Amino acid sequence: MALASLIEALLTMEAAALAAVESASDSSGLEQVRVEYLGRKDGRISGILRRLGEIDPEERPAVGAEANRVKARLQEELEAREALLGDGGSAEAAQDLSLPGRRGWTGGLHPVTRVLDEICAIFAGLGFTRARGPEAETEWYNFVALNTPMDHPAADEQDTLYLQGGGLLRSHTSPVQIRTMEQYRPPIRILAPGIVYRRDAWDATHAPGFAQLEGLVVDEGVTFVDFKATLAEFARRFWGEGTRVRFRPSFFPFTEPSAEVDVKRVIRRPDGTVHETDWLEIMGAGMVDPAVLENVGIDPERYSGFAFGMGPGRIAMLRYGINDIRLLHDNDVRFLGQFTS
Ligand code: PHE
Repeated sequence: MALASLIEALLTMEAAALAAVESASDSSGLEQVRVEYLGRKDGRISGILRRLGEIDPEERPAVGAEANRVKARLQEELEAREALLGDGGSAEAAQDLSLPGRRGWTGGLHPVTRVLDEICAIFAGLGFTRARGPEAETEWYNFVALNTPMDHPAADEQDTLYLQGGGLLRSHTSPVQIRTMEQYRPPIRILAPGIVYRRDAWDATHAPGFAQLEGLVVDEGVTFVDFKATLAEFARRFWGEGTRVRFRPSFFPFTEPSAEVDVKRVIRRPDGTVHETDWLEIMGAGMVDPAVLENVGIDPERYSGFAFGMGPGRIAMLRYGINDIRLLHDNDVRFLGQFTS
């Protein structure tokens, strides 16, 4: 007995078995097929394996492997057909014409995209347009023009992904501030969403690439009052009336003064009681540093402005109660399918 003919016998048997599964019309028919082919003692596959002794010992594993493949395939087909026939156990019962049609999943927006679009829509209502910039940047746009010297810790190789030839993957969306001011004169009101990159760990709270949303306003007579009022108004429109906003002193090389902005949400329960959340940090922000305006040839004596940068991924996690940032990156439809309406 040659190797080839044993394999051929298996393949012929496989085709016959699959045809038998296909034509079985109820559970007992499927059980007959199972016993006939997969039965331990008298099954046809066992029958073929019993003839292994007829071939050279070194050829046996190949036949064994093929037999296992056929077994697994047959098992799968039996289960699929069983599921199709349903508990009623017959092909007729499986065809309930009164059932509503099955609707295909038409796709949906990623939770981060949803949050981004919503924030952009709120700022569009305040007169902001969308802008964008490249993900591969130069040191000038990512750091130097933003008043960040190359010996600043943020520019360190530990934190930033450098490309061959001197470029880098932008570590924030702030370079879009510079690119916008180079191209347009004030009044400027832009919002720039995009992906940024850092040499960060990959764990529940860090990802080496994530979304950011940059905002920039430059005009004559823009004051700290405009800055606070705009961001507070945004927070109320996004999180609801009664949301409280807190500006904590902070530092960024490209804003002066700088602040971290926190929000506290007020949740009114159906029974009338009121619950206040903890303060949630939502963005870094500040008044545009005059040195930055000078770097792009805008006269800081005449113009002033404010800028802010937030993480829509973080905001989406807070909003939807997502506890692991990796869920936003896995592209698992079982997770993403929850955000379709
Ligand atoms: N670019 C800063 C960051 O990534 C955020 C920021 C943007 C702060 C604009 C101030 C103004 O952390």
